[in-house]
Amino acid sequence: MGRNLLAVSDLEKNEVREMIRRAGKLKELKKQGESPKNLEGMSVGLLFEKQSTRTRLSFEAGLFDLGARAIYMNPADTQLGRGETIADTAKILSSYLDGIIVRTYGQEKVLELAENSAVPVINALTDLEHPTQIISDLFSISEQGVDLEKFKLAFLGDGNNIANSFVAASAIMGFDLSVAVPPGYEPNPTIMGEATEHGNSKIEVIHDPASAVRDADVIYTDVWVSMGEERKGTKVFRPFQVNKELLSFCHKDPLIMHCLPAHRGEEITAEVMDSPRCVAFTQAENKLHAGKAILEFCLQD
Ligand code: CP
Ligand code: NVA
Repeated sequence: MGRNLLAVSDLEKNEVREMIRRAGKLKELKKQGESPKNLEGMSVGLLFEKQSTRTRLSFEAGLFDLGARAIYMNPADTQLGRGETIADTAKILSSYLDGIIVRTYGQEKVLELAENSAVPVINALTDLEHPTQIISDLFSISEQGVDLEKFKLAFLGDGNNIANSFVAASAIMGFDLSVAVPPGYEPNPTIMGEATEHGNSKIEVIHDPASAVRDADVIYTDVWVSMGEERKGTKVFRPFQVNKELLSFCHKDPLIMHCLPAHRGEEITAEVMDSPRCVAFTQAENKLHAGKAILEFCLQD
């Protein structure tokens, strides 16, 4: 019953399209002060081992809107923090809850949780992927009137979780993707391999940011130091900053996106971040509406 969402590759194109359509409807209803209580009576746990503002709050508020109860757990405060196994924890949690939303480090932890859970598990970010963010961002892009099969996204920065999920999404949805990263920061080779083998989109990984943005419809960036990373220095990322000079290489007038939190002056300048083409705050709002669509998709029979 229900569905896991552990990685973008768990989804098919028509399912992503349906979630985006539903997110639009839920947004419209929310603006009218309404929300269907489609998850009435459910209890959903949020097991978050890393910090979160948007993902945690949007899921908690979304669950409330849908008539469900959110139960936040800091793993350090649970017996996980004293060595109880993930497998045992999954069995216990799924005997109380109707779904588990998890944010952690290794993707293997989410997989182990899901293998041992009797209820759906949703990945709310690992070091490898951030699938709920990317579904929400595709909703934000389509809301701007962009055809999800016919646009080019340029991702600049560190080729980790956000970039990996865009690689998988590009293969599924068919949009073109240029990932511009410093050497050594390329996306995950397994995700790249699967995307290039099974997808029909054009995906390139390059080291030249100006070339990546030239014919881009969307420019996307993310922090240079992700949660859990002990990176010393960010000098290698400096040429990948989204700034006015970089935008002068664009042939189009691209949308600027950022999953947030932003570090103004690092991956993006304040000037670009606060410019009208930057939709970062709309992206953040849309995590509520898309999150509700994801919850319905995963938790309803
Ligand atoms: N974009 C995102 O996942 O933000 P949080 O880390 O605040 O949840
Ligand atoms: N790459 C970032 C994304 C934050 C939403 C991180 O993992 O910290």
